[in-house]
Amino acid sequence: PISVSPKNRWFKIPDDEKGYKLDLFCVPKHYEEDLDQVIIPHGLIMDRTERLARDIVRDMGGHHIVALCVLKGGYTFFADLLDYIKALNQNSDKSVPLTVDFIRLKSYCNDQSTNIVKVIGGDELSTLTGKNVLIVEDIVETGRTMETLLSLLSECNPKMVKVVSLLVKRTPRSSGYRPDYIGFEVPDSFLVGYALDYNEYFRDLSHICILNENAKEKYKV
Ligand code: IMP
Ligand code: MG
Repeated sequence: PISVSPKNRWFKIPDDEKGYKLDLFCVPKHYEEDLDQVIIPHGLIMDRTERLARDIVRDMGGHHIVALCVLKGGYTFFADLLDYIKALNQNSDKSVPLTVDFIRLKSYCNDQSTNIVKVIGGDELSTLTGKNVLIVEDIVETGRTMETLLSLLSECNPKMVKVVSLLVKRTPRSSGYRPDYIGFEVPDSFLVGYALDYNEYFRDLSHICILNENAKEKYKV
């Protein structure tokens, strides 16, 4: 079981957040009709990620870290977060080795979480035995995906496990699970962009945006 450290804060985006008009930013032409507004601009994601990196190094910086990327949605955040951790490692007297691992989980169809969390591919989790593991996730909604992964991981006896999620959704469907580090707490809408997808679309969008109802129909499988 992982408890939330009170010293780690998150950026709260309120339910009545209006966001930003799409035409103030650069959005791919092929998605213009599908999005209502930009909710988290790319620059803000980067700035918040830089601070998460600092908090993580402060807490885990004494030990070798294995950063475990939860694919596919976590890949952009993972790459950017690791760049900031690397920058801290390169520019201070204290530094830790950082190695990477990947796991692929799938629990979504259209905009609904299914009850089954599938593990598809990735290395043997047993390589994490005795290591300090930082799980890097894009978004926690019900918390089921992360709880499943944590229980799988605990069977391999890692030395320490911390979870960082860029986003946590405020939703009545939550199991109550909270990651150790949270970038932003977001309203209960379906979000896309910055590697968050809707049936594989919108990973090629830099900003985090709210998907409109037309688009949910258009890209339905
Ligand atoms: P949970 O198991 O309900 O916490 O869901 C976690 C997973 O569902 C995340 O890793 C995402 O892949 C996916 N997910 C949940 N909400 C969203 C969303 O708003 N946009 C895109 N993917 C989402
Ligand atoms: Mg995910």
